[in-house]
Amino acid sequence: MDQHIADDPEVGVLPKFKRVAVHLGAEVSGIDLRRPLDERARQALRDGLAEHEVLVFRDQDISVEDQMRFGRYFGDLSVHPIARHDENIPELQIFDNDENNPPTFTDNWHSDETFREIPPLGTVLRARVMPPIGGNTLFASMTAAYDGLSDRLKHYISGLEAVHDVKLFRLGFTDDEKGREKERFINENFPRVTHPVVREHPVSKKKVLFVNPHFTLHIKGMDELESQCLLRVLYHQAEIPEYQYRHVWAPHTVVIWDNRSTQHYATRDYTERRHLHRVTVKGTERPYAPA
Ligand SMILES: [Fe+2]
Repeated sequence: MDQHIADDPEVGVLPKFKRVAVHLGAEVSGIDLRRPLDERARQALRDGLAEHEVLVFRDQDISVEDQMRFGRYFGDLSVHPIARHDENIPELQIFDNDENNPPTFTDNWHSDETFREIPPLGTVLRARVMPPIGGNTLFASMTAAYDGLSDRLKHYISGLEAVHDVKLFRLGFTDDEKGREKERFINENFPRVTHPVVREHPVSKKKVLFVNPHFTLHIKGMDELESQCLLRVLYHQAEIPEYQYRHVWAPHTVVIWDNRSTQHYATRDYTERRHLHRVTVKGTERPYAPA
């Protein structure tokens, strides 16, 4: 960490937001994430996140400590119960991939950790090394995805609930004592949870489509075929380009997404090194259905 800059008094400059896609995404300028921001600036960022759903900060050559301080403007940081994290800083996840070490499960539409009773509020990614081409992240506005459904389908899914699980992560549990130990830990601490299929965003109060193929198992009270057919229709909403923002990374780009209102998909189309740091912001309440 650059001690001199981080020890400076809190900075009260307000961020500026420039929309980058029709339904979500804004590039943020006017602030230096190496410097602590004052409460007014932090509140402007929290409001901006709820409004724009994804915030992009270019040319921010920040440290791990700066990234963690930035994440904490939005809430407490959490530790991922399955994915590998840094030995000394459990809140820090490091993605370091290339052709010989491809990422697992990231090329799949999802919001993060919806297997939790209280899924994360948001996720902060910081690009360190990027391949010259490829390795983009696609984001989908699940508020726009909900709005795009027909009135009949909106009416039908109102009040439905879906069961979520660590699901695909189970494929990574090895068939040995270590793997079985991990599975026992997950089953005891992260039993299946139920979330509303349509949730209300706690800040924007917008309706959000809240099922994803990464963690959702089935819809409660429906026959398996009915459930899978309906889920397929709902999953498809995230795949519609009009609801998306495609983010092209460069080193020193920082992105935070609102995990309550978006899904994302990291393309697996690169061969050269792609290295990012992630911290995750805890959610504050269980997802709830609109009144
Ligand atoms: Fe993710």
